Amino acid sequence: MRTLTHDLPARLLYAVKANPNPAVLRVMRSEGLGLDVVSPGERVLAERLGFAPEQVLFSANNLTDAEMRAAQESGVLLNIGERSRLEAFGQAFPGARVCLRLNPKVEAGHHEHVVTADARSKFGIPAEEIASARAVAEAHDLRVVGLHQHIGSGIRDVAPFEQAVRVLLNAAEAFPGLEFVNVGGGIGIPYRPDQEPLEADRFQRAVGAPLRHFLEAHPSGGLSFWFEPGRFLVAEAGVLLVRVNTLKRASGRVFAGTDSGMGHLMRPAVYGAYHGVYNLSNPEGPLKPYDVVGNVCEGGDVFARQRPVQQIREGDLLAVLDAGAYGMAMASTYNLRPLPAEVMIRPDGRLDLARRRRPPEELIDALLEAEETAATRSPTAPASPAAY
Ligand SMILES: Cc1ncc(COP(=O)(O)O)c(C=O)c1O
Repeated sequence: MRTLTHDLPARLLYAVKANPNPAVLRVMRSEGLGLDVVSPGERVLAERLGFAPEQVLFSANNLTDAEMRAAQESGVLLNIGERSRLEAFGQAFPGARVCLRLNPKVEAGHHEHVVTADARSKFGIPAEEIASARAVAEAHDLRVVGLHQHIGSGIRDVAPFEQAVRVLLNAAEAFPGLEFVNVGGGIGIPYRPDQEPLEADRFQRAVGAPLRHFLEAHPSGGLSFWFEPGRFLVAEAGVLLVRVNTLKRASGRVFAGTDSGMGHLMRPAVYGAYHGVYNLSNPEGPLKPYDVVGNVCEGGDVFARQRPVQQIREGDLLAVLDAGAYGMAMASTYNLRPLPAEVMIRPDGRLDLARRRRPPEELIDALLEAEETAATRSPTAPASPAAY
């Protein structure tokens, strides 16, 4: 990533949502990266891990007033993508610094659910409304120090980035006090064997050229370009290990049933995403087609359909590849299936437990405890839902 930007004043933030494991965030901190956080929870985690407020950009959407106040009081910079929130922010904190999130209306992403900058997207201030957003900012003496976009996720083509950057820089012309322009994240990785990675050289030419040109046209100094990738930094570093406990032949298929499932890696069920599957217990085995499935009570609980995998036997350990981004980050305990352990492999080969496995009893205890606490706190129904 650094080679993408080496001749530009640039700053790298890591998008926490891709993988918020504290051990990962500590690595990012030691590498000098800042963070892009998208929720109060991520913001507080960053604070508790020792990230300084200046290292954190808070790109939340649909905040409550209380969440907005808490974020501003914590010292992080808010990235606002709705005019009405900007108005509320201006009223509460006149004269404050703020970043605006723009929707450049460029459609890109590996699935329609991850397109964040088309006309149907809830994110960002539409490019054609940026002048009225500026007027709101001016009315409250807000200092717009950053302009931001994030167009989508899993993009392996440079054209949408180039197109969006041009829209962003065009909007930037109207904000003379900018300290940074944030190009967002979204760089994809090759999940399928036949996919090519996004080429660093092409990205640098396509995105770097307009940035460099903008910098030359505005030589007053102080402006830097920010990038906030998530997936690109962590996806390929993570592997989900699953044990095959049941082989079943039915309807001309062989189902390899595992001790994991969509609760631990939701991407195939949510996006129809492809993840490579590799049989660690029989790496030299002949390739045979399998439906590799999980243990969750859902028809969509499938890691791979009719996938050639080295011959699988009951008891084999499979690696589901490229699970480091949006894997455990999106995990759930659906069906009361507990979350697995996470292990960090250090550069010297050392293994560190980064999250302990939760026994199923903990889940059940938590549910029963929550019910008991609720019963003692609200013997009668409160007058308003806010009282809960
Ligand atoms: C605001 C913002 N920035 C950065 C990212 C990171 O995206 P990616 O993991 O595709 O790089 C996201 C992900 O959706 C996002 O919403």
